[in-house]
Amino acid sequence: MEGKLASLRIALWGASGRMGEAVLDCLGEQSEMSLVAAVVSEGSTWRGRLLRERFPSAPAEQRFLCARDCPPCDLILDFSGAAGFAEALSTALRFGAALVSGSTGLSRQDEERLEQASARIPVLWAANFSLGLIVLLALAEQAAAWLSDFDVELLDLHHRGKRDAPSGTARALGEAVIRAKESQGCHARAVFQREGARGEGEVGMVSLRGGDAVGEHRLFLLGKGERLELAHQVSDRRVFARGALRAASCLAGRPPGRYRLESMLPSLVGPVELDRVGSRPV
Ligand SMILES: NC(=O)c1ccc[n+]([C@@H]2O[C@H](COP(=O)([O-])OP(=O)(O)OC[C@H]3O[C@@H](n4cnc5c(N)ncnc54)[C@H](OP(=O)(O)O)[C@@H]3O)[C@@H](O)[C@H]2O)c1
Repeated sequence: MEGKLASLRIALWGASGRMGEAVLDCLGEQSEMSLVAAVVSEGSTWRGRLLRERFPSAPAEQRFLCARDCPPCDLILDFSGAAGFAEALSTALRFGAALVSGSTGLSRQDEERLEQASARIPVLWAANFSLGLIVLLALAEQAAAWLSDFDVELLDLHHRGKRDAPSGTARALGEAVIRAKESQGCHARAVFQREGARGEGEVGMVSLRGGDAVGEHRLFLLGKGERLELAHQVSDRRVFARGALRAASCLAGRPPGRYRLESMLPSLVGPVELDRVGSRPV
């Protein structure tokens, strides 16, 4: 089915979590979307309870439910982390629904499953749904290519409850830097822990965790006698939620394939278009 759906039926995975809450907060802004399921894990303390307990504006009878009780939907929006991702994906395949996922800390097997699924359904995974971060990714790659003899180091700072380190975004930034350096014929490799001296070509990543910090990424390009810093900070999770909902509205109804958030950048100045990458038509 090509084009947008009149009313997009969304099932939200990880609905009881921090991101789930932000998405539920922002869903009211989307008149063309309706929430058909707020999905939690089988053993969740929220399973079976009314959404109204946490969200006074939720429909009277809507309850948190688990994957096997999820009704048919057009799109699954997944923020359940590595714990729920596989189930979100298999449910999307079962319904022929699109999948937008922001879950990080995925295993290699999860990534392979996502790639295979893109032959049957439209999928979009992004480590970070903020527009500022998409710009930072592009800037980081360009800066690392132009300043290819500078050393590059990365820092990510997140709240104490974050399960993965480095963050998915830090990994994506590191990959962009390594790609840029290799394009200039330089050897580069990511280093997640360091003891002792810095090795040649290392792109070091440091993860700080604590308090309620929503998310900060800082890239240091360190040269002789000068340094360039690129930084991005999020203070409100609804930035991610709105980005993910915007991606959802673009993705629904598209042909199967793997889509990239980067191509949403034109939406800052004009209509949104998504590029399809690595798709295998059914
Ligand atoms: N891409 C982005 O822009 C972006 C931004 C922020 C965060 N993230 C990522 O999004 C994920 C969630 O972050 P968060 O801060 O919201 O974490 P969180 O507060 O721990 O929420 C995750 C929720 O998923 C639920 N869950 C666990 N297993 C599940 C399953 N099998 N099915 C359905 N739900 C399940 C858990 O709830 P129950 O125990 O109640 O089931 C938990 O509350 C993380 O991977 C994080 O890194 C991405």
